[in-house]
Amino acid sequence: MENRSLVTIADYSKEKILYMIEMAKKFENSPNRKLLEGKVIATLFFEPSTRTRLSFETAANRLGAKIIGFADPKATSSTKGEILKDTIIMVSNYADVIVMRHYLEGAARYASEISPVPVVNAGDGANQHPSQTMLDLYSIYKTQGTLENLNIYLVGDLKYGRTVHSLLMAMRFFNPTFHFIAPEELKMPEEYKLYCKEHGIKYTEHVDFNEEIIAEADILYMTRVQKERFTDLMEYERVKNIYILRDKMLENTRPNLRILHPLPRVNEIAYDVDDNPKAYYFQQAQNGLYAREAILCDVLGMTLEDIG
Ligand code: CP
Repeated sequence: MENRSLVTIADYSKEKILYMIEMAKKFENSPNRKLLEGKVIATLFFEPSTRTRLSFETAANRLGAKIIGFADPKATSSTKGEILKDTIIMVSNYADVIVMRHYLEGAARYASEISPVPVVNAGDGANQHPSQTMLDLYSIYKTQGTLENLNIYLVGDLKYGRTVHSLLMAMRFFNPTFHFIAPEELKMPEEYKLYCKEHGIKYTEHVDFNEEIIAEADILYMTRVQKERFTDLMEYERVKNIYILRDKMLENTRPNLRILHPLPRVNEIAYDVDDNPKAYYFQQAQNGLYAREAILCDVLGMTLEDIG
């Protein structure tokens, strides 16, 4: 049987990305469609989440599906020692799709290999977050009118930030120029820089974050320093407030610039940026609903034609 899981954005071709954007557009035009009546979606969140879980659950509700799952693994039998394999096999007896966030890198891949129903990776450790990437791509497409030839600045925790890893991989088809802005401790990992080299993706690395550096940006993608991934909390304390975007830094930026952030933000975007028309992070999170409606339909085998 074809495995329709979404584990990594690397599974998507350029055509598939553009197709999923078309699907998301349809759901933005009309989010309430009872296309998944009779289906059950399981949301298994072994790590905290606000947007990803609630937008997947809202997507399921708007599509007429029912939802089971948990937001807190402490309330499940994993605290009694149940292993992930057994949990996945059990839940696949109840649900038609499993949406899972897990703290272990590779957990979603493993789940997809043992599950008879599709698995959607809602974030696995510092590895990948492909549904976030689809909403990021949709947001970039909506605000720039294209995904091609953009200057994309990734700022902050590029070491542990799974959203930047997924976004970088997805953009390989669209001739981007990346700027990686991070302190030494949080630099883009070598494996992703190697990925850029193998796929002809241009990038420059910076340690400074200031007005001059971001003057040519089309997309400024801010990220939170991922406290939960640090083994040494002293190191976290040293870098946690290293970059803060303030409204006055945006004065000489391009008119088409949009500021994205997967959220939650901690200190990296000052509140005075929120009223700047270039701030797009809350609309970006809203786009997550439409992108996730598209993903749920797609993993269940529905096509653009079915959606109508
Ligand atoms: N962007 C994102 O993954 O947010 P949550 O952790 O709130 O789901």
